[in-house]
Amino acid sequence: MVVEIPDVLTKSELAEVRRIIDAAELVDGRETAGELAAQAKRNLQLPQEGQAAREAGEIILKALGRNPLFNSVALPLRVLPPLFNRYEVGMAFDAHVDGAVRAMPSGGPRMRADVSSTLFLTDPADYDGGELLIEHAYGTSSVKLPAGSMILYPAGSLHRVSPVTRGARTSAFFWTQSMLKDDGLRSLLYDLDMAIIEVRQQLGHDTHGTLSLTGVYHNLLRRAIEL
Ligand code: NI
Repeated sequence: MVVEIPDVLTKSELAEVRRIIDAAELVDGRETAGELAAQAKRNLQLPQEGQAAREAGEIILKALGRNPLFNSVALPLRVLPPLFNRYEVGMAFDAHVDGAVRAMPSGGPRMRADVSSTLFLTDPADYDGGELLIEHAYGTSSVKLPAGSMILYPAGSLHRVSPVTRGARTSAFFWTQSMLKDDGLRSLLYDLDMAIIEVRQQLGHDTHGTLSLTGVYHNLLRRAIEL
Protein backbone atom coordinates (compact mmCIF):
# COMPACT_ATOMS: atom_id res chain seq x y z
CA MET A 1 0.00 0.00 0.00
CA VAL A 2 1.02 3.59 -0.57
CA VAL A 3 0.31 5.84 2.44
CA GLU A 4 1.11 9.51 3.03
CA ILE A 5 2.13 10.58 6.53
CA PRO A 6 1.80 14.37 6.90
CA ASP A 7 3.96 16.54 9.16
CA VAL A 8 6.41 13.89 10.38
CA LEU A 9 8.82 16.68 11.32
CA THR A 10 7.96 19.87 13.21
CA LYS A 11 9.00 23.16 11.60
CA SER A 12 12.05 23.43 13.90
CA GLU A 13 13.11 19.80 13.27
CA LEU A 14 12.80 20.36 9.52
CA ALA A 15 14.92 23.54 9.75
CA GLU A 16 17.56 21.71 11.80
CA VAL A 17 17.73 18.74 9.40
CA ARG A 18 18.06 21.11 6.43
CA ARG A 19 20.75 23.15 8.20
CA ILE A 20 22.81 19.99 8.80
CA ILE A 21 22.44 18.66 5.24
CA ASP A 22 23.00 21.99 3.51
CA ALA A 23 26.27 22.51 5.43
CA ALA A 24 27.61 19.06 4.44
CA GLU A 25 29.32 17.93 1.26
CA LEU A 26 27.31 15.56 -0.93
CA VAL A 27 28.86 12.83 -3.10
CA ASP A 28 27.80 10.88 -6.21
CA GLY A 29 24.75 8.77 -5.26
CA ARG A 30 25.97 5.81 -7.33
CA GLU A 31 28.47 4.96 -4.58
CA THR A 32 25.70 3.40 -2.47
CA ALA A 33 23.72 1.79 -5.31
CA GLY A 34 23.94 -1.84 -6.41
CA GLU A 35 25.28 -2.50 -9.92
CA LEU A 36 21.88 -2.42 -11.63
CA ALA A 37 20.54 0.59 -9.73
CA ALA A 38 23.78 2.49 -10.40
CA GLN A 39 22.94 2.60 -14.11
CA ALA A 40 19.57 4.19 -13.34
CA LYS A 41 20.66 6.59 -10.61
CA ARG A 42 21.82 10.16 -11.14
CA ASN A 43 21.77 12.14 -7.89
CA LEU A 44 23.88 13.37 -4.97
CA GLN A 45 23.96 11.79 -1.53
CA LEU A 46 25.27 12.50 1.95
CA PRO A 47 28.05 10.00 2.84
CA GLN A 48 26.18 7.15 4.56
CA GLU A 49 28.15 6.91 7.79
CA GLY A 50 29.26 10.55 8.05
CA GLN A 51 28.46 12.73 11.04
CA ALA A 52 25.91 14.87 9.15
CA ALA A 53 23.83 11.84 8.10
CA ARG A 54 23.96 10.47 11.65
CA GLU A 55 22.87 13.75 13.28
CA ALA A 56 20.06 14.47 10.81
CA GLY A 57 19.05 10.78 10.88
CA GLU A 58 18.66 10.80 14.66
CA ILE A 59 16.19 13.70 14.48
CA ILE A 60 14.11 11.74 11.98
CA LEU A 61 14.25 8.42 13.89
CA LYS A 62 13.07 10.25 17.03
CA ALA A 63 10.17 11.80 15.10
CA LEU A 64 9.21 8.36 13.70
CA GLY A 65 9.18 6.85 17.18
CA ARG A 66 6.41 9.20 18.31
CA ASN A 67 4.35 8.90 15.09
CA PRO A 68 1.37 6.52 15.57
CA LEU A 69 0.53 6.48 11.85
CA PHE A 70 4.04 5.31 10.87
CA ASN A 71 3.85 2.57 13.47
CA SER A 72 0.40 1.45 12.32
CA VAL A 73 1.30 1.41 8.60
CA ALA A 74 4.77 -0.12 8.78
CA LEU A 75 4.60 -2.22 12.00
CA PRO A 76 8.37 -1.65 12.22
CA LEU A 77 10.76 -4.25 13.56
CA ARG A 78 13.97 -2.57 12.31
CA VAL A 79 14.44 0.84 10.71
CA LEU A 80 17.60 1.51 8.71
CA PRO A 81 19.06 4.93 9.68
CA PRO A 82 17.91 7.48 7.07
CA LEU A 83 20.04 8.41 4.06
CA PHE A 84 19.82 11.78 2.32
CA ASN A 85 19.87 12.74 -1.34
CA ARG A 86 19.60 15.78 -3.58
CA TYR A 87 18.44 15.96 -7.19
CA GLU A 88 19.68 19.05 -9.01
CA VAL A 89 18.57 20.14 -12.51
CA GLY A 90 18.82 17.20 -14.94
CA MET A 91 19.18 14.56 -12.20
CA ALA A 92 16.73 11.63 -11.96
CA PHE A 93 16.41 7.99 -10.87
CA ASP A 94 15.00 5.68 -13.57
CA ALA A 95 12.55 2.85 -12.83
CA HIS A 96 13.85 0.28 -10.34
CA VAL A 97 12.87 -1.99 -7.45
CA ASP A 98 14.68 -1.55 -4.12
CA GLY A 99 16.93 -4.44 -3.09
CA ALA A 100 15.43 -7.01 -0.68
CA VAL A 101 18.30 -7.01 1.81
CA ARG A 102 20.15 -4.08 3.39
CA ALA A 103 22.98 -4.05 5.93
CA MET A 104 22.62 -2.03 9.12
CA PRO A 105 25.53 0.47 9.43
CA SER A 106 28.90 -0.31 11.07
CA GLY A 107 28.79 -4.02 10.31
CA GLY A 108 25.42 -4.46 12.03
CA PRO A 109 22.99 -7.27 11.12
CA ARG A 110 21.32 -7.51 7.76
CA MET A 111 17.64 -6.69 7.46
CA ARG A 112 14.86 -7.33 4.95
CA ALA A 113 13.60 -4.15 3.27
CA ASP A 114 9.79 -4.40 3.28
CA VAL A 115 8.69 -0.77 3.30
CA SER A 116 10.41 2.13 1.50
CA SER A 117 10.00 5.68 2.77
CA THR A 118 10.74 9.07 1.26
CA LEU A 119 10.59 12.09 3.56
CA PHE A 120 10.43 15.31 1.51
CA LEU A 121 12.64 18.12 2.82
CA THR A 122 12.14 20.81 0.13
CA ASP A 123 9.11 23.08 -0.32
CA PRO A 124 7.46 21.96 -3.63
CA ALA A 125 7.38 25.61 -4.77
CA ASP A 126 11.20 25.59 -4.83
CA TYR A 127 11.60 23.01 -7.63
CA ASP A 128 9.91 21.61 -10.76
CA GLY A 129 9.91 17.92 -11.72
CA GLY A 130 11.36 15.50 -9.17
CA GLU A 131 8.08 13.63 -8.65
CA LEU A 132 8.31 10.16 -7.10
CA LEU A 133 6.30 7.85 -9.39
CA ILE A 134 5.18 4.57 -7.80
CA GLU A 135 3.53 1.78 -9.82
CA HIS A 136 0.90 -0.34 -8.06
CA ALA A 137 -2.11 -2.54 -8.83
CA TYR A 138 -4.38 0.44 -9.55
CA GLY A 139 -2.01 2.53 -11.67
CA THR A 140 0.83 4.96 -10.96
CA SER A 141 0.90 7.44 -8.07
CA SER A 142 2.76 10.71 -8.65
CA VAL A 143 4.02 11.99 -5.31
CA LYS A 144 5.38 15.43 -4.40
CA LEU A 145 4.74 16.33 -0.76
CA PRO A 146 5.20 19.40 1.44
CA ALA A 147 8.55 19.59 3.24
CA GLY A 148 8.36 17.50 6.43
CA SER A 149 5.81 14.99 5.02
CA MET A 150 6.56 11.40 4.04
CA ILE A 151 5.33 8.67 1.68
CA LEU A 152 5.48 4.93 2.51
CA TYR A 153 5.33 2.32 -0.28
CA PRO A 154 6.24 -1.34 -0.79
CA ALA A 155 9.99 -1.74 -1.37
CA GLY A 156 9.14 -4.27 -4.09
CA SER A 157 7.14 -1.83 -6.21
CA LEU A 158 8.58 -0.36 -9.41
CA HIS A 159 9.32 3.33 -8.81
CA ARG A 160 11.35 6.24 -10.20
CA VAL A 161 12.12 9.91 -9.67
CA SER A 162 11.39 12.14 -12.67
CA PRO A 163 14.07 14.64 -13.73
CA VAL A 164 14.28 17.91 -11.81
CA THR A 165 13.90 20.82 -14.27
CA ARG A 166 14.25 23.79 -11.87
CA GLY A 167 15.79 24.20 -8.41
CA ALA A 168 16.81 21.17 -6.35
CA ARG A 169 14.94 18.49 -4.39
CA THR A 170 16.40 17.27 -1.08
CA SER A 171 14.91 14.24 0.72
CA ALA A 172 15.57 11.60 3.31
CA PHE A 173 14.91 7.96 2.43
CA PHE A 174 15.13 4.75 4.41
CA TRP A 175 13.87 1.18 4.65
CA THR A 176 11.92 -0.63 7.31
CA GLN A 177 11.75 -4.33 8.08
CA SER A 178 8.20 -4.92 9.19
CA MET A 179 6.97 -7.44 11.75
CA LEU A 180 4.67 -8.52 8.88
CA LYS A 181 6.50 -9.22 5.63
CA ASP A 182 3.28 -9.66 3.61
CA ASP A 183 2.23 -6.26 2.25
CA GLY A 184 -1.38 -7.39 1.64
CA LEU A 185 -1.86 -8.59 5.21
CA ARG A 186 -0.20 -5.46 6.59
CA SER A 187 -2.58 -3.38 4.49
CA LEU A 188 -5.67 -5.25 5.83
CA LEU A 189 -4.56 -4.82 9.43
CA TYR A 190 -3.93 -1.12 8.82
CA ASP A 191 -7.48 -0.72 7.43
CA LEU A 192 -8.87 -2.53 10.50
CA ASP A 193 -6.84 -0.35 12.87
CA MET A 194 -8.00 2.87 11.18
CA ALA A 195 -11.66 1.71 11.13
CA ILE A 196 -11.58 0.92 14.87
CA ILE A 197 -10.07 4.35 15.64
CA GLU A 198 -12.75 6.06 13.52
CA VAL A 199 -15.66 4.26 15.23
CA ARG A 200 -14.24 4.89 18.72
CA GLN A 201 -13.86 8.59 17.92
CA GLN A 202 -17.42 8.81 16.58
CA LEU A 203 -18.85 7.08 19.66
CA GLY A 204 -16.62 8.97 22.10
CA HIS A 205 -16.21 5.81 24.20
CA ASP A 206 -15.61 2.06 23.95
CA THR A 207 -18.43 -0.44 23.59
CA HIS A 208 -18.35 -4.25 23.77
CA GLY A 209 -18.15 -4.15 19.96
CA THR A 210 -15.14 -1.82 19.77
CA LEU A 211 -13.32 -3.75 22.50
CA SER A 212 -14.01 -6.99 20.65
CA LEU A 213 -12.70 -5.52 17.36
CA THR A 214 -9.59 -4.25 19.13
CA GLY A 215 -9.09 -7.81 20.41
CA VAL A 216 -9.49 -9.16 16.86
CA TYR A 217 -6.83 -6.70 15.60
CA HIS A 218 -4.29 -7.71 18.25
CA ASN A 219 -5.03 -11.41 17.99
CA LEU A 220 -4.64 -11.37 14.20
CA LEU A 221 -1.36 -9.48 14.63
CA ARG A 222 -0.24 -11.99 17.28
CA ARG A 223 -0.87 -14.90 14.87
CA ALA A 224 0.92 -13.29 11.94
CA ILE A 225 3.84 -11.49 13.58
CA GLU A 226 7.45 -12.60 12.95
CA LEU A 227 10.14 -11.34 15.33
NI1 NI B 1 14.24 3.24 -4.83
